[in-house]
Amino acid sequence: MKDLISIGTDIEDISRFKNKTIENSRVFLEKIYTQNELAYCFKTALPEQHLCARFCAKEAVIKALSDFKIDDVFYKDIEILNRNGGAPYVVLNKYPNLQIKVSISHCKTYATATVLAIRD
Ligand SMILES: CC(C)(COP(=O)(O)OP(=O)(O)OC[C@H]1O[C@@H](n2cnc3c(N)ncnc32)[C@H](O)[C@@H]1OP(=O)(O)O)[C@@H](O)C(=O)NCCC(=O)NCCS
Repeated sequence: MKDLISIGTDIEDISRFKNKTIENSRVFLEKIYTQNELAYCFKTALPEQHLCARFCAKEAVIKALSDFKIDDVFYKDIEILNRNGGAPYVVLNKYPNLQIKVSISHCKTYATATVLAIRD
């Protein structure tokens, strides 16, 4: 019987993302993040925290999807946006029938994300 629910998680060191906030990191940033994500991160005081958190969320989505044998989703296919109150959500246009839930947290040094993926 195929599983209907899958989870994924990731944790990353925020310091890895500090040097991604400088101008010559454009290629990396544009490969990984959507314009909406970059706009969100770079309007904050510490963009590296939010870049790192989104990276974790994307990796957690990829892990959750791998349990469904989905392996054609790449970082930029996954968009992490925030509702008005700040709660994050996932946009995955490649698989609109999947329900994906995400929770993000970060402190000074680490960011982490947990994802739940649900299919019919
Ligand atoms: C929401 C709340 C629990 C976040 O806790 P925190 O310790 O400040 O934040 P963390 O570092 O653990 O996590 C930050 C992430 O939490 C997520 N987040 C923010 N607000 C959220 C919310 N209302 N619900 C779920 N997740 C939320 C975001 O993804 C954020 O990261 P991002 O800005 O990079 O996307 C805290 O701000 C809080 O209690 N706020 C008061 C309640 C509130 O504002 N409710 C919203 C009413 S609509």
